[in-house]
Amino acid sequence: AIRQSFSTRAQKQERDSWNYVQPQASYKVAVLGAAGGIGQPLALLIKMSPLVSALNLYDIANVKGVAADLSHCNTPAQVSDFTGDKELASCLKDVNVVVIPAGVPRKPGMTRDDLFNINASIVKSLVEAVADNCPDAFIHIISNPVNSTVPIAAEVLKQKGVYNPKKLFGVTTLDVVRANTFVAQQKKLRLIDVDVPVVGGHAGITILPLLSKTKPSVTFTDEEVQELTVRIQNAGTEVVEAKAGAGSATLSMAYAAARFVESSLRALDGDSDVYECSYVQSDVTELPFFASRIKIGKDGVEAVIKSDLQGLTEYEEKALEALKPELKASIEKGINFVHKQP
Ligand code: NAD
Ligand code: LMR
Repeated sequence: AIRQSFSTRAQKQERDSWNYVQPQASYKVAVLGAAGGIGQPLALLIKMSPLVSALNLYDIANVKGVAADLSHCNTPAQVSDFTGDKELASCLKDVNVVVIPAGVPRKPGMTRDDLFNINASIVKSLVEAVADNCPDAFIHIISNPVNSTVPIAAEVLKQKGVYNPKKLFGVTTLDVVRANTFVAQQKKLRLIDVDVPVVGGHAGITILPLLSKTKPSVTFTDEEVQELTVRIQNAGTEVVEAKAGAGSATLSMAYAAARFVESSLRALDGDSDVYECSYVQSDVTELPFFASRIKIGKDGVEAVIKSDLQGLTEYEEKALEALKPELKASIEKGINFVHKQP
């Protein structure tokens, strides 16, 4: 059932859903950073969801035109634009899912952590507004460095007294999307059948694809494991370099984020068979946050799938131990950032 929901079933529903113009549910979604490279195509994909009745777009610039443009698509979601601090509260009112891709992207030569100084403050202030206006919403954090921005969001929500660890998600879906694509290509499998869990975090070696847990079951040579793992870990950098200064992944990210939004909405709508990988508060390892497969339900994270981390290969065990110090440091950096603020 897990595999079915994760690949075939989810993808079929995604495909089918885009053929409908009749609303099937009436959830309200907000995108903060909606005029950006990710925000625009993500807003378009969410506008195509039959589960969405209202789509609120917020950015500090250029959001009016994006909303006007999108609003002409004859799909049910009602599009509204919001800009500036004063309009943020109205944007977030009664929202069920808030997606945050606001912040600066990498340029060649940068790590995701190099974005911390700018993006930490952006995420902090946006999550403060979420805490004040829609504390019950699912919060999807895309802004990098995700390994630190999710702990930042958690601390902000704690300070506001509204932290619900089941509803805070770091979006790592793109790592799974990439792993599925690269493995299907390498092994000449039908894409729709392939499901590779990716655990850990979302930066360099903290991204750990568990190739031994690939469904359908496939065997890899040691060289293939090494090559595929490194390709998946560096896929973001591959795009940053190809874009040569014009930003990082936007289209594949929008696709991945839309999949995660759709999965969340299906869970909210009562589907009891929704599984995705996500970076969440977790006790699968000794680290307070960790990406792994989770079951999503009406109230958020219903279960963290611990079995994925059992029976790992020696290569995966070593990689798991190797990633922990870096992930731990990124988590602590995020937590300390919030506590050092005046
Ligand atoms: P972008 O620069 O094209 O867009 C960012 C948008 O955020 C801009 O429109 C900007 O005006 C807006 N913004 C900035 N400050 C804001 C604020 N305080 N409130 C609201 N909006 C604000 O960048 P992008 O390519 O869309 O990337 C956005 C972020 O997503 C980056 O941090 C990037 O590293 C990250 N990212 C994450 C993943 C992932 O897998 N999680 C993948 C790709 C990119
Ligand atoms: C990605 O994985 O594509 C994103 O995290 C953006 C980046 O900086 O690589």
